[in-house]
Amino acid sequence: MISKALTAACCLLVVSADATQTGLDKPWMDTALSPKQRAQALVEKMTYEEKASMLHGYGAQTDDWPYVGNVAAIDRLGIPALRYNDGPQGFRDDKLPGTSTAWPSGLTAGASWDKHTVYNWGKGMGVEFYKKGANVQLGPGVCVARVPHNGRNFEYISGEDPFLGYTLVQPAVKGIQDQGVIANVKHYVNNNQETNRNSVSENVDERTRFEMYYPPFKGGVEANVGSMMCSYNKINHVWSCENPETLRRDLKEVMGFEGYVMSDWGATHSLSIAEGLDQEMPGNETFNRISLKSVDPKLVADSVTRILTPMFQMGVMDTPNPNKISNNVTSDSHNDIAREISQNSTILLQNENDVLPLAKDNIRIVVVGDQAWNAVVHGGGSGSVTPAWVKPPLWSICDKLGVERINGENGASGCNAGSKVCVTYDDGSKSPGNTDKYDHAILFVQTSSHEGGDRTNLSFAGGQDEMVSAWGVVDGLKKVVVMSTPGAVLTPWSKDIDGILLNFMPGQAMGDAIANTLFGDSNPSGKLPLTFPNEENEQRMTISQYPGLDNGENATYSETFFFGYRWYDKHNVQPKFPFGHGLSYSKFLYDASTFSIKDRTVEIDVKNVGSVPGGEVVQLYVGFPSSSGEPVRQLKGFEKYLLEAGETVTASFTLTDRDLSIWDVASHKWALQKGEFTIEVGTSSRAIRATGLLEQK
Ligand code: GLC
Repeated sequence: MISKALTAACCLLVVSADATQTGLDKPWMDTALSPKQRAQALVEKMTYEEKASMLHGYGAQTDDWPYVGNVAAIDRLGIPALRYNDGPQGFRDDKLPGTSTAWPSGLTAGASWDKHTVYNWGKGMGVEFYKKGANVQLGPGVCVARVPHNGRNFEYISGEDPFLGYTLVQPAVKGIQDQGVIANVKHYVNNNQETNRNSVSENVDERTRFEMYYPPFKGGVEANVGSMMCSYNKINHVWSCENPETLRRDLKEVMGFEGYVMSDWGATHSLSIAEGLDQEMPGNETFNRISLKSVDPKLVADSVTRILTPMFQMGVMDTPNPNKISNNVTSDSHNDIAREISQNSTILLQNENDVLPLAKDNIRIVVVGDQAWNAVVHGGGSGSVTPAWVKPPLWSICDKLGVERINGENGASGCNAGSKVCVTYDDGSKSPGNTDKYDHAILFVQTSSHEGGDRTNLSFAGGQDEMVSAWGVVDGLKKVVVMSTPGAVLTPWSKDIDGILLNFMPGQAMGDAIANTLFGDSNPSGKLPLTFPNEENEQRMTISQYPGLDNGENATYSETFFFGYRWYDKHNVQPKFPFGHGLSYSKFLYDASTFSIKDRTVEIDVKNVGSVPGGEVVQLYVGFPSSSGEPVRQLKGFEKYLLEAGETVTASFTLTDRDLSIWDVASHKWALQKGEFTIEVGTSSRAIRATGLLEQK
């Protein structure tokens, strides 16, 4: 026993003696200095070995290194370990599933078109990462949805529009980082497909990159994000994590990113510090104390400074995170927040004859489909989070209507005699049969996707489309479809359906969120962040564009800006459901007589002329002078207004030089365009309520 105590004491003495011996004054602990100044002061005190030790990982998800990414502490200098974890929709804990909240996915948060909702999404996740002992969250994901089939579109907040991504990444990053967790905006850049992601060269010109793919990352820079992740693919035949044009020049010099770039896991191909990579993840095959000796010490110091700066900025240095990965960090209150976010992001795509919201009495409902019982609420891959429990939407509907919870057995049913309500469950595996005892059918369908592969089609598999079509032609029934999807889908049966609700990958609280929406306790206010097409490959992408020629090694972005709604506008094709579309249980009147454009400020009055409070996302689109070669309209402003019945708001937007500029490749700068701009305000990209002109001299 004595020997142990002595050892401990001796060890203690050594540690304290050591600190005294080195007489370390610690100027970097002066909080009056900026995070960058503090980082620079600390780097000066670091040995080469200590600096090299921060430029690579130590392993992933092992007993010694339990997080997805790990960087060792440097006790001598009081530098805590860095602990990274996935992902963009919550803390992925493979060893203790259910100990964190399965939040709505990135695309779902994007569908809210609401900075407050997105901030709360980031905050909720950041709190849980912190409580799990992580000081880096590997999210948000922001890649623009170039192709509808991309297996990771569900993770990405941008949808198909760079401005939507640029705007919403900022509250997401702030929500996460306000909790003392460094956010990580990913995957930089043009990781716009999963097919051949580890080898494909995404060949895209500079102007298209700056105008269509960089803006969400630029939004991260403006939100002071601490880190970025370079991607697996090549850009113009150069690996993303060693591409001096996209990393060193575009991201660090032109966009002014002062945080650090980590590689995706295994995406490091060379000692590419000079090209702009700062840290290899998850191991040290390439970046290590031996190899780094050959690198200019100034570059090594700059990379370490870039890592330490966000550590100071987010308080990682001043208050090291004491929490353990084994903590259970989910909670009822977080489930409630996840439900709120899912509700705010739910999109009412169709509401024929105002079939929705449904009454809570005198109604006989058949709930159809396995998704109502075994709900799929998140996508697959590194970004997936396994919830402790997913309350079946069928139970949420029963609870809402005061019907005893019925199980998932075909034909199970229950009634509330007092309110003359009955609910029956039908797993949808057979044709509808006798439906006389119902007046409403709620049809639940789902499809999902995952990292590492793209969707082969945009349909609902497993006979779900056939199920909806079969119920759609039944007379005497009002039909509502609830869709949970990882992105765009085809809806061939929509003409036979009255109401359609969409909640993308809605997270664990989906059941109560959708029941609240179905019965009017939540008024849907989500908007489509990407176009829903009429048919497969409606944009007629060639194999050269996607997934690429030469065994998929070369995907060429010959469409430049013209994908998503920009393509539909250019070709004058009416999409099934347009970008920015989403209905409400309220009605919003845009008063064109109040529409004004004074200098760069655009205003219009919007009134809720409905009978219930609701949220309306007022959207501003800009059309450049035709000489610019730009698309006919582009999103350059949006704001969600929550309006009481009868309430009017003056929606106001101020356009910036950047909004009216194109990327000029010759000068590598933004070039303000002169001439006549078309200014449009509306409730979607295809529902414009007022138009005017802005003359830029
Ligand atoms: C994966 C993903 C990335 C994730 C990382 C760690 O391959 O591409 O998004 O954060 O590896 O799991």
